[in-house]
Amino acid sequence: MKKVAFKILRFDSERDPQPHWENYEVELEPTDRVLDGIEAIKGRLDGTLALRRSCAHGICGSDAMIINGKNRLACKVLVKSLKQPITIEPMRGFKVLKDLIVDMEPFFAKYRAVTPYLVEKEPRPEKERLQSPQERERFDDTTKCILCGACTTSCPSFWSDPDYVGPAAIVQAHRFLFDSRDQGKEERLKVMNDKEGVWRCRTVFNCVEACPRGINVTRAIGEVKQAIAKGKV
Ligand code: SF4
Ligand code: F3S
Ligand code: FES
Repeated sequence: MKKVAFKILRFDSERDPQPHWENYEVELEPTDRVLDGIEAIKGRLDGTLALRRSCAHGICGSDAMIINGKNRLACKVLVKSLKQPITIEPMRGFKVLKDLIVDMEPFFAKYRAVTPYLVEKEPRPEKERLQSPQERERFDDTTKCILCGACTTSCPSFWSDPDYVGPAAIVQAHRFLFDSRDQGKEERLKVMNDKEGVWRCRTVFNCVEACPRGINVTRAIGEVKQAIAKGKV
């Protein structure tokens, strides 16, 4: 057990005029992750600290936050790998509701806008739709997205224009656009070609650096841009 110092940006949208930093120290094991540290603070020192989390294993995407200046999933970062005090802030560009909890509704509205499911227009075939390994490979990378929001909230184009659909929604659009079984490409490409679509991306690459799933977000965005330019996927 060792003492670890944290500095957390606190804000209650119903009470505080502005955010303020609070310092904490908790005893942690060498194998503990940042999420363990924040939960220890909440459990042992200050029950009012608010955060979102669920799986604690890098799957649900609910605990993305800024850790020592970078967007990360708190459950995937080992405390011992970080310089102290470990600074924790909510993701940028979304309204903060309380402490580390941001309003994700605008993010999910953009997700819904790209029709994130397979669209079927032709009559259903008698047997399943076959797909070759090569066809499956085209969208393999973008199937890994867990909708954590780390990419979108690290993107300067999004900070300067909150209406930009953002890299996460583009990743989702890519996953279905490049699926040979999908029949909704026209509508999806229209959303991508909108003034708030892919062309707002300035190839800054912060999204690639931020993605906890190692998705090559910028490559996916480039492929969607090419599909629009060619008029087909
Ligand atoms: Fe999170 Fe990566 Fe999906 Fe963006 S692309 S929402 S960073 S998993
Ligand atoms: Fe933003 Fe990523 Fe493009 S950081 S500008 S979406 S390459
Ligand atoms: Fe689910 Fe971290 S708590 S990804």
